[in-house]
Amino acid sequence: MSSLRIVHLSDFHCDGSPELRAALARLVDRAIDCGPDLVVVTGDLSADGRPGELDIVAAELERFGSVPRVVLPGNRDLVPSVGPPGEARPLPADSDLDYFLALEPALGFGFDDVATDPPAAIDADPETRFSSRFGRLETRHADPRVQLVAVNSTPRLRPAELERAARRLRRAPEGVLRIFALHHGLLPVPGRKLRDGDLANRAGDLLALLLELKVDLVLHGHVHRAHAWLVSDGHHEMVVASAGALVNDGRRDASFNEILVGGGRLEVRRRSVATGEPSLLFQTTRPG
Ligand SMILES: [Fe+2]
Repeated sequence: MSSLRIVHLSDFHCDGSPELRAALARLVDRAIDCGPDLVVVTGDLSADGRPGELDIVAAELERFGSVPRVVLPGNRDLVPSVGPPGEARPLPADSDLDYFLALEPALGFGFDDVATDPPAAIDADPETRFSSRFGRLETRHADPRVQLVAVNSTPRLRPAELERAARRLRRAPEGVLRIFALHHGLLPVPGRKLRDGDLANRAGDLLALLLELKVDLVLHGHVHRAHAWLVSDGHHEMVVASAGALVNDGRRDASFNEILVGGGRLEVRRRSVATGEPSLLFQTTRPG
């Protein structure tokens, strides 16, 4: 297989603020500088799935030009939340007003998207809002080097969607890099205290299935930590890599991952958005 360079971006939580817009522009600059063959974005592009937030991200991702892009939604893009970045919470059950505002964010005060006209039909429901800008919620990319399937894990992974993904992965020719992408995690990662809903439902079964399908690489977001695990069932090995977030929580700077495959190696690097500097997260000589 000839070499392949992937940039894996995640969790921009773009709220339209000048700070996050500038950070997102810098992140895209850094990612373009890597010269990627493929861009994978694993969800939570927006703070709350508002049309204005999604439009900003769509315009930034357009800057990758002809580089193929696979863009997945996260919980924040599809389920209105009321918490600070990274702290998605369920809708308050005891407040009709909050519930109403969460369902109809354009009616809230101080939001960017306050409109005098009713929202266009295309922006009426969160899934359509997302897919009209970024394509299908369940998507894929195939070229002579790679077979990637991406699934929507919000609110849960759906069996029918997984079955379709499994069929595609089974059909992948020998020697092609098999990638599975989703928003939610499959394993705990250091430095992140797990919260309810952080991991995909039936994550253990899914790991076993992906190993059986000879998946080489899993890409996910949501946990806001750049990390990579090597997982094996004794027959097959697979790298599970999570990307960092754009939001800066004060302890770690914004980052994305760069993945290099080819020449008998697979390497995952964390790239700082502030400096562009890479740090090695994982390296193996197994996949070729
Ligand atoms: Fe998330």
